[in-house]
This record gives sequence, C-alpha cells and structure tokens, in this order.
Amino acid sequence: MKLWGGRFTKSTDSFTDHFHSSISFDQRMYKEDITGSIAHAGMLGRQGIISMEDAELIQKTLKEILEDIENGKVVFDEKAEDIHMNVETILIERIGDVGKRLHTGRSRNDQVALDIRMYSKTQIKDINALLLELIETLNKIAEENTRTIMPGYTHLQRAQPITLAHHMLAYCEMFKRDIARLDDAYGRTNVMPLGSGALASTTYPLDRQSVCEELGFDSITLDSLDGVSDRDFCVEILSALSIIMMHLSRFCEEIVLWSSHEFKFVELDDAYSTGSSIMPQKKNPDMAELIRGKTGRVYGHLMGTLTMLKGLPLAYNKDMQEDKEALFDAVDTVKMCLPVFTNMIKTAVFNTANMYNAAKGGFTNATDAADWLVKQGMPFRDAHAVIGQLVLYCINNNTSIEDLSLDELRAISPVFDESVYEAISVEKCVEARNVPGGPSPEYIKALIETNKKYLAEKK
Ligand code: ARG
Repeated sequence: MKLWGGRFTKSTDSFTDHFHSSISFDQRMYKEDITGSIAHAGMLGRQGIISMEDAELIQKTLKEILEDIENGKVVFDEKAEDIHMNVETILIERIGDVGKRLHTGRSRNDQVALDIRMYSKTQIKDINALLLELIETLNKIAEENTRTIMPGYTHLQRAQPITLAHHMLAYCEMFKRDIARLDDAYGRTNVMPLGSGALASTTYPLDRQSVCEELGFDSITLDSLDGVSDRDFCVEILSALSIIMMHLSRFCEEIVLWSSHEFKFVELDDAYSTGSSIMPQKKNPDMAELIRGKTGRVYGHLMGTLTMLKGLPLAYNKDMQEDKEALFDAVDTVKMCLPVFTNMIKTAVFNTANMYNAAKGGFTNATDAADWLVKQGMPFRDAHAVIGQLVLYCINNNTSIEDLSLDELRAISPVFDESVYEAISVEKCVEARNVPGGPSPEYIKALIETNKKYLAEKK
C-alpha cells in the first residue's frame, strides 16, 4: 500500500505511477532529503514530540540509508513516487513503527521545498567557483595582451582600435555580475521552509529555529503558505543561469567568427575542435557552437518555470514538481559549459599579427584623426566631415589615412601637419584612451590588478 493509501480502495494505474513519479530525477536530492530528515527527527525528539530513543534510532538508520545509497546498494521504487517517500519507505522497512514517526509535523510540501533550497545552495556555490576560474583565465590572457592591438567593432564593422586585454576584461565584468546575481539569489534561497507543513504549519510545538541553524540556513520562512509555494528562488537562479549562458553564447559567437578564415584571429586547440566527416580541410569550433546552442535550453527552462507557476493558486500544486527537471537540467548545462569554455579559451592561440593588421586596415583611427583636427581648433562636426572626405578618398585609392602624404592630406584640409601621423597610429589611438574604462595599457593594467584582488577575496 502507498504511504498515503488509507483513503483509497483501488491502487493507481501503473502508467499513472510512471506518469506522476519523480524519483527518476529527484533522487539526486537524496542527501539533502536525508540531512533534512535527520535534523527534523532530532528536533522532534528534543521537543518531546517523539521519544529521544525513537529520534536517535531514526537518525542512525537514516545515516545508514545515506551510506547505502552512496554505495549503490539502494534501488529506488517508482511506486514510492519520489525521493521523500522512497527514503521513508526504506526507513519503515528497516525499523518498522519507529520509522513511521518521522513524518510527524511535516509534509512532503515543506520537505520538497527544503530539499530544493538545500540543493540550490550547493549548486550556486559550485557555479560561482566555475565562474571564478573563468574570470581568472580571462584576466591572465588580458595580462599577457595589454598591448595586443585589435579592432573594436560596432555593427560588426571595424570601429576603433582596442586591445585583446580590453576585450577579455569586458567579459570579466559580465561574469563578475553573474556571480553577484547568483550571490543575491543565494540570499533568498537561504531561508528554511520546514515547519510550513502541507500549507498551514502544524499543531506540534516545532522548534523551527534550531532546525534552521542545524541545516545552515540564515532564517526561517515567515508565512507557511508562502513557505511551500515559493519557487521564486528557482526562477531567480534560472534567470541568473540564462544570463550566464547569454554571456557565454556571445563570447562563443565571437570565437566562431574569430576562428573563421575570414577573421583568423584565433586558432582553437585540436582538443577543443572537431573535423568534418567529408571535408578533410575542416577544423570546426564545435564546442563554441554547442555552448551557443545550449543557451536555448536554459532560456527554455526559465520560461517553462515562469509559465508553470503563473496560474497556480496557493499553496502547493503538483505542477510544481516540474520545477526540478528544469532547474537540474539548467544547472547541469551551465556546469558543463563553463569548464569547456574555460579550457577552450585557455588553450586557444591568438593570431596577434592578424588582429593588428585588421586594426590598421578599416580606418579604425578615423575618430582619432578627427580628434586631432579638433585639438587644432576645428569644431568636431567639421572635423568629422573632413575625415569622412579623407576616408572616401582612401577607399577610392585603396589606401589608409596614415599612408597618405602630407600633400594629399592638405588637399582636403590645410590644417594638417606632420604631427598628425603620430596621433593616428593605432598604438597611439589605444594609449591615448586613458580614461577609466578605456583600452590604454596603463588603465587596463590597473583593472587587471582590481580583478586579482576581487579573485583573492572571492576564493
Ligand atoms: N514530488 C513532489 C514534488 O516534487 C513532492 C511534493 C509532493 N506533495 C504532494 N502533495 N503531492 O513536488
């Protein structure tokens, strides 16, 4: 008979069992479930709700079950629905009536809420550690490339010269924000729901605070209806994970572009590329593409969870069982993508000569040429027009601004003199952008140090 079978006269259809059972996926929360139960049992004993001997036997047996699960000795049963009832069933099999006392003052509704919160807390910490490794890797690449000039783009058109370091550090900023978002979600996940019962708490004198402390939570939930219904933290985590994937995906798109023959800015290590079954010359950036592709499924889990929750009346509804596969798959996906990306970028070889040449071609110094005129007293709008004419002249004559003779420059504006050449070299263009946030090696080195301090504090 099912643990809840008392009021039923017929057993469930076996396909129904299969349909509504969650053990195939929620078994990954076995440790959280058992740890929560051990804390609950101890509290029941201390409060005199069950005897201390019973509490101790329950705790001891739960520890044995945990060990047996870890040693692969436990086979879960689909008929027992979920991890909560599987553990309880095994407990009762082992210690009979005493085991039946564990669920006093508790419901699977607050139990599952506790388990997901505990699971989520661990996952947030793991993912933050992976993000820190990525930031450290990017910061190192930046350190080696503070003078590696490359074109910066807008509209994927060459715009102004920057450095590879500047580009890498842009992603460091994104991943630092991702950590901040997860840290923030952690705070709201770190609230202990046990004691909410099925929805309206319980008549037993539970000591919720002691369970909260024992399980390492910050505080307890303040309304039992909310305690069992709240999955905001799942949505927040899924949202933070979606943003991580969005950042990775943008970066991957650049890796795909940069490793093409058209760009040739980067050569991926053989270990992070694949070949074609038909075209012998191919070396494809599959890992980058796959990460870009997997972004969609994480977004899907965010939208799926938001949609699953949107029509639910208070308090618990079985729809909420759908939160777990979404969260688990999003977590698994991010935990696979982050290390693959980190290793891919760590082993990539940047073709700095091609980057430099691309920055030199494509008039990335045009703004600086206009700025030079402004510094001679010309209003910016006029300078813009003069340089526009110069660029057109260069396009028609297949040359670049710095390769024009002084006579050619003066033919367009008499203001030009020798000193313009130095001002519009790509090196100078980068060096001169020395405002905070800019690509100048001086500023970038300071930012690299800031990141090192951040990493030291976070690790
Ligand atoms: N497996 C269920 C879930 O994941 C546990 C809670 C079940 N509660 C209930 N009243 N059916 O949501």
